[in-house]
Amino acid sequence: MATTDEREYVLGTGDDELQRLGLQHRLWSDAAHAAWKRAGLAPGQRVLDVGAGPGYASFDLAQVVQSHGRVLALDESRPFIEHVREQAAARGLTQIDGVIGDVQRLGEAVGTQLPFDLAYARWVLCFVASPESVVAGVARALKPGGRFVVHDYFNYEAMTCAPRRESYAKVVAATARSWRARGGDPDVVGRLPRILRDQGFVVEHIDQHQRLARPGESMWHWVASWWRNFVPKLVQMGEITEADARRFFEDFDGMRAETDFTVLPNVYEVVARRV
Ligand SMILES: C[S@@+](CC[C@H](N)C(=O)[O-])C[C@H]1O[C@@H](n2cnc3c(N)ncnc32)[C@H](O)[C@@H]1O
Repeated sequence: MATTDEREYVLGTGDDELQRLGLQHRLWSDAAHAAWKRAGLAPGQRVLDVGAGPGYASFDLAQVVQSHGRVLALDESRPFIEHVREQAAARGLTQIDGVIGDVQRLGEAVGTQLPFDLAYARWVLCFVASPESVVAGVARALKPGGRFVVHDYFNYEAMTCAPRRESYAKVVAATARSWRARGGDPDVVGRLPRILRDQGFVVEHIDQHQRLARPGESMWHWVASWWRNFVPKLVQMGEITEADARRFFEDFDGMRAETDFTVLPNVYEVVARRV
């Protein structure tokens, strides 16, 4: 398995991705808060944010657990964890700490800080080669009765636009292919209930959030920011040609609120209890 230094998160960790993740969190924070509530998140608890990125969910989690709780943000990206630490200090959230490490070797990264009441992993399992290792590490990190909340993808290639366009179908297929080629799995939630059961969890809840966006809506900007960042990467990776990318943006930029919409990839929600 590649080490943290050898492998790079497929979207990179630059400022454009930091901004995109901020918008993404604002648009999906209602779903996150509802899932945490379902899992019993409460003041005073200890929470692990698995693959926390720049920490947007961690900051919200910290406000719920309050100053007598604790949030540990774990991510392999140094710039993202530096952002977590800087922002935690700027916001006076002394209950947050950031740790750099591989979520597939979770014990090494968080070993001294166990145990946790709740772990949260959003859009991380789809990027790792071994979700089994992540779930095993989370099982060891949680207290008996602790909850693992996951938001991630299944059936990613159902993402489409209406009316359908060949250029759109091409970039969706190339995106899924590019994740798979780098060890990820855009269908990971389809395997997750079994992985959880094998690691001693009871799956309490599975549901999905299906959304669509019309040009000009906030959700549209999430989709647009995703493609602006990722389509050039698909060209660099050799998954599509420059002509494919040009054609895609011509079609995408030509979509109109009166006539067109885009169907977002379903975000699946899983809440599991460690026995
Ligand atoms: C799409 S972002 C999601 C960030 C955050 N969970 C959120 O919802 O805002 C995926 C994150 O997973 C991290 N990541 C991917 N593979 C990882 C690994 N093996 N170990 C630690 N972090 C990883 C990336 O650095 C990135 O910050």
